[in-house]
Amino acid sequence: MPSYVITGASRGIGFALLDQLSEDANNVVVTIVRNKAATESKITTELPGRKNIFVLQGDLTDVESIKNAFTETKKLLGDSLDVLIANAGYISDYSGFLPLSELGSDTKALDADLNQLFQVNVVGNIHLFNIFLPLIKNGQAKKIVTISSGMSDEKLTLEIGLFEAGPYSISKAAMNMVNAKFQAEFKKEGIIFMGVCPGSVDTGHYDNPRENAYADWRLLAVSPEDLQRNIAMGGKFAGYAPGFKGWATPRDSARDVLNIVQKATMEANGGQLVSHFGNKQWL
Ligand SMILES: NC(=O)c1ccc[n+]([C@@H]2O[C@H](COP(=O)([O-])OP(=O)(O)OC[C@H]3O[C@@H](n4cnc5c(N)ncnc54)[C@H](OP(=O)(O)O)[C@@H]3O)[C@@H](O)[C@H]2O)c1
Repeated sequence: MPSYVITGASRGIGFALLDQLSEDANNVVVTIVRNKAATESKITTELPGRKNIFVLQGDLTDVESIKNAFTETKKLLGDSLDVLIANAGYISDYSGFLPLSELGSDTKALDADLNQLFQVNVVGNIHLFNIFLPLIKNGQAKKIVTISSGMSDEKLTLEIGLFEAGPYSISKAAMNMVNAKFQAEFKKEGIIFMGVCPGSVDTGHYDNPRENAYADWRLLAVSPEDLQRNIAMGGKFAGYAPGFKGWATPRDSARDVLNIVQKATMEANGGQLVSHFGNKQWL
């Protein structure tokens, strides 16, 4: 039975991944979430009768909780795991639209924002990978997947002048190197470390996304200034991908991501970040 562990399936893309993977009764799907009771309740309501879903508690900023989740996973799956999907992530609304120079006017707030992003999106995932590697080594598929972002792509940043969301982009860029380092170490064991950008996905980070097709998911657009910044950034995306039709649903995004994961090979994906198209076209 193919086995999956997904972090952060309490909502958003993670929940959609959980839904699609558990539709196949042959799959066993474990998710690690911060609020176990709330996630179990959501699953009971929205995915009734799925006997192949198991919910464990774990917070990426609390390494002991991830070790406990590993122990519980072993009780459920035995000594092997096929695919680990590091989906959980911190998306900073605070720094979503400002350039680093403006964020620098409040050094304490910028420190806090950078540290939280690094702790969750980078350090937490490094611990997660190390803790779960013994099971992945015994799995059939041997894939460790990070749900990352095209915002981490230096080429895109320079091409369209994408100065926004520096701290978040930096945290995701760091994960590109984390994957490259793990890949360099574990290629000989056939374990694939890969990043996938899920596209631009409506996961509720913006109140009225449909009013602006290019609304960004990192901002709760509460002020007119933020809305203007949002529209300005949307203009950059529109110039980059004139055919872009706006946000994807979590369901469509999860389908695209899983398609990339199923087809992934060491040659094409090992240590690499690709988009939901499977290449470096981000929108
Ligand atoms: N949405 C997009 O357009 C988009 C684009 C590119 C990349 N991504 C990436 O895709 C992934 C999912 O995004 P999303 O839009 O679905 O985000 P989301 O709706 O904000 O969900 C984030 C998930 O991460 C979990 N999480 C946050 N901090 C955590 C921590 N310290 N420990 C464990 N879990 C934690 C959340 O749990 P709680 O429910 O407990 O808060 C939640 O399940 C993220 O890695 C994001 O960076 C998203």
